[in-house]
Amino acid sequence: MKRIFAYLRFIPILFFFPVYKNNIRLRKDLDQWINTKNNKTFLGRLAVLLQSKKEFRNLFIHRNTYPKNHFLFRRWIKIWYPPEPTLYLECPDIGGGCYIQHGFATYVTAKKIGDNFHVNQQVTIGYSGPNALPTIKDNCMVMCGAKVLGDITLGNYTRVGANAVVIKDYKRGYGLLVGVPAKPKKEYPIEVLRKEGIAIEE
Ligand SMILES: CC(C)(COP(=O)(O)OP(=O)(O)OC[C@H]1O[C@@H](n2cnc3c(N)ncnc32)[C@H](O)[C@@H]1OP(=O)(O)O)[C@@H](O)C(=O)NCCC(=O)NCCS
Repeated sequence: MKRIFAYLRFIPILFFFPVYKNNIRLRKDLDQWINTKNNKTFLGRLAVLLQSKKEFRNLFIHRNTYPKNHFLFRRWIKIWYPPEPTLYLECPDIGGGCYIQHGFATYVTAKKIGDNFHVNQQVTIGYSGPNALPTIKDNCMVMCGAKVLGDITLGNYTRVGANAVVIKDYKRGYGLLVGVPAKPKKEYPIEVLRKEGIAIEE
C-alpha cells in the first residue's frame, strides 16, 4: 500500500519534468545525496529522495524557486511532498552539490554559497544587521548547531565545527573553525597549498 502511494504521488511530479530536467545544480545535488550504484537514473534518484528525505524536498523546491520562480509547481509539490517545516533556504545563489544532513531548525540566509555545500541541523547562517550577510565559497561545511553571522566570507574548504559562532572573515579557507567566537584550529599550511598551486586569499 505504502509503495503504491509512493508511486502515485510521484506521477504528478513527472508532469513538471520539463521544468526541472535541465537544472544542472539539481543534478549535482543528487550526486551528493545518493549512492549512484543503486539508483542510476535521474528520475529514479529523485523519486527515492523525495520519498525518503524531507530536507531534500526543501532543496528541490529551492531549485525551482531561483532563478526562475515556478509558482504553480512549488505549490503543487508542497502538497504532495511536504518539506521540513523548520528548514529555511533563503539564499538566491546556492551552488550545485548541496547536501543537507537532517536540516531541522536550520536557517540559511547568505549572499552566495558555492558548490558542494554541506550543512547540518540547528544551524543559523544569516544577518548580523541590515544587509549584512555571509558569503560562503566552494566545498564548505557547517556542522550542527553552528552560527555564521554578518557580512563575512568563508574561503574554499572551510569547515565550521559543531556549535562554533563565526563572526569574522576566514577568506583563506582550508581550515576548521571552532569555538565562540570561532577561531581557526586545524589548517592546511599555506606553503603546502602554494606548492600544490592552490590560490588562497590571505
Ligand atoms: C568538523 C569536525 C568533524 C572536525 O573533525 P576533525 O577534522 O576530525 O577534527 P579533530 O577531531 O581532529 O579536532 C581538531 C581539534 O579541534 C577541536 N574541535 C573539533 N571540533 C570542535 C568543536 N566543534 N568545538 C570545539 N573544538 C573542536 C578538537 O578538540 C581538536 O583540538 P586539539 O587539537 O586541541 O585536540 C568536528 O569539529 C565537528 O564539528 N563534528 C560535528 C559533526 C556533526 O555535525 N555531526 C552531527 C551529525 S548528526
